[in-house]
Amino acid sequence: MMANNGPRISVIGIGKLGSPMVAVFASKGYHVIGLDINKDFVELLQKGIAPVYEPRLQELITQYKKNIEATTDYYKAISLTDITMVIVPTPSDSDTEFFSNDYVLNTMKAIGQVIKSCNKYHQVVVTSTVMPGSTGGIIRDVLEASSGRKIGCLDSEIGLAYSPEFIALGQVIHDMLNPDFVLIGESDKRIGDALQHLYSKRSDKQLVLFRRMNFVNAELTKIAINTYVTTKITYANMLSELCENIPDADADTVNVAIGSDSRIGNKYLKGALAYGGPCFPRDNRAFAALAKSLSCNALLAEATDQLNNYQAERLVNICKKIAVICTVDKIQPSKTKVGLLGLSYEPSSPVTECSPACNLANKLVLDFDVTAFDPLAMSAAARICDKRVTFANSVDELVCGDLDILLITTAASCWKNIYFNQTRKKLLYIIDCWKLLNKEEIEQNNRYVRIVLLGNGNSIKGLNDVGASVRKLTVRNNEFQNGHAQRRVLVAGGAGFIGSHLARRRKQGQS
Ligand SMILES: NC(=O)c1ccc[n+]([C@@H]2O[C@H](COP(=O)([O-])OP(=O)(O)OC[C@H]3O[C@@H](n4cnc5c(N)ncnc54)[C@H](O)[C@@H]3O)[C@@H](O)[C@H]2O)c1
Repeated sequence: MMANNGPRISVIGIGKLGSPMVAVFASKGYHVIGLDINKDFVELLQKGIAPVYEPRLQELITQYKKNIEATTDYYKAISLTDITMVIVPTPSDSDTEFFSNDYVLNTMKAIGQVIKSCNKYHQVVVTSTVMPGSTGGIIRDVLEASSGRKIGCLDSEIGLAYSPEFIALGQVIHDMLNPDFVLIGESDKRIGDALQHLYSKRSDKQLVLFRRMNFVNAELTKIAINTYVTTKITYANMLSELCENIPDADADTVNVAIGSDSRIGNKYLKGALAYGGPCFPRDNRAFAALAKSLSCNALLAEATDQLNNYQAERLVNICKKIAVICTVDKIQPSKTKVGLLGLSYEPSSPVTECSPACNLANKLVLDFDVTAFDPLAMSAAARICDKRVTFANSVDELVCGDLDILLITTAASCWKNIYFNQTRKKLLYIIDCWKLLNKEEIEQNNRYVRIVLLGNGNSIKGLNDVGASVRKLTVRNNEFQNGHAQRRVLVAGGAGFIGSHLARRRKQGQS
């Protein structure tokens, strides 16, 4: 498709979000200039190579290369386009938890200087996540000062908008093409109308819902949505732990029913891992920090953050329960071997920023031998994981090794097809955090595989019962070895198969 007659677009910052945006606009026939201070990214895009990994990104760049340019030159990017999207980092300040505007302001200065030298109306859209008050405050001030123009709708002014994207890495292109709604904070009707038209054309949906408002309401909406979603995820995790401690309770059953209530809804209501990634944790903390800075009560957002951090501990404790059982299989005392399948924060993404799987690996390594595999995120994970975490070269290498416990930590559907080695001679416990596997079928076909269900009272009770039996057994065995007991061992309770397995192992050990 050749470039259409619509506005020419520049995208400042061609990283994880900016590159897909360039590709998506190009795919809809717009001429797009991507700009970055990272020369490598620019050179790659100039050659038609995606600067970052994201599903479908390379395909779109290859197909619509004719509509894409890349540069490090602000003058070129701004003077040759009508509208500029700014998608540069806004890292969280570790002291205040507020997002820093430093990169955005540098960009505004550079854009403003070009606009000053060009005699044309230009529109600037902030896509980066910013703290409420930023767009109408410091961002407006810097853009006005550097351009010598006012923000407004006249040809002699600059249109300014705040329009963040609601996307998940690993499905950025899909999410940009299929938005639930588009949020626009606008300086005036002219830029709001222009964006509404542009995003309608960008979407694959026939009808796109728009929410147009002033800057501060849009800024609040962005972090409020993420804070609400993190609360919902954490609620599901809290319920999941509760169910684990009640016989016959099952969090999935309860969640599906709860989610059927139209006031609640099923999305993000699943007991699994903690939330992570570059947005959820920091948006939630920024929301809490903002509330506190205004002397408002931030208890809910703070509790969500604390409970989210606790999820790794909860999983480590389940692994410890299993480790007790695994001692039966050990001739010599050795660390229980734990494998992690999935290290990125989302499937189909190489991004490990605030990844719950990496965080879990770093906690597990204190008590266990930890090996991990991820198809995309291994090198990024190696940079943030404890040096004691080792990495497998493939799923098969990980799963067919002599693991005691396998944790499925990303909801990647490819894990459903894992092949389990039929020749195993010791039990493999799988903690299927996302309930991807068919428990009945796999356990039937693999005598030595047991799937532990998070949020399931009977599953965890089974571990507790067998663990208690093993503890008793160990005490009796020690007594026996000290000559205080008869050579008779009772394996009481526990899940049938596991109980008989224990009994067999003890018999082997004693004969
Ligand atoms: N990644 C996400 O999932 C996500 C989701 C929603 C919102 N956001 C927000 O989008 C913004 C960008 O996030 P990202 O993940 O794409 O970041 P990123 O780090 O992947 O990409 C940002 C790019 O901006 C470039 N850059 C920095 N300063 C620049 C400048 N002065 N001029 C030109 N380019 C410059 C960097 O070199 C980098 O390539 C952030 O505010 C983030 O909070 C990100």
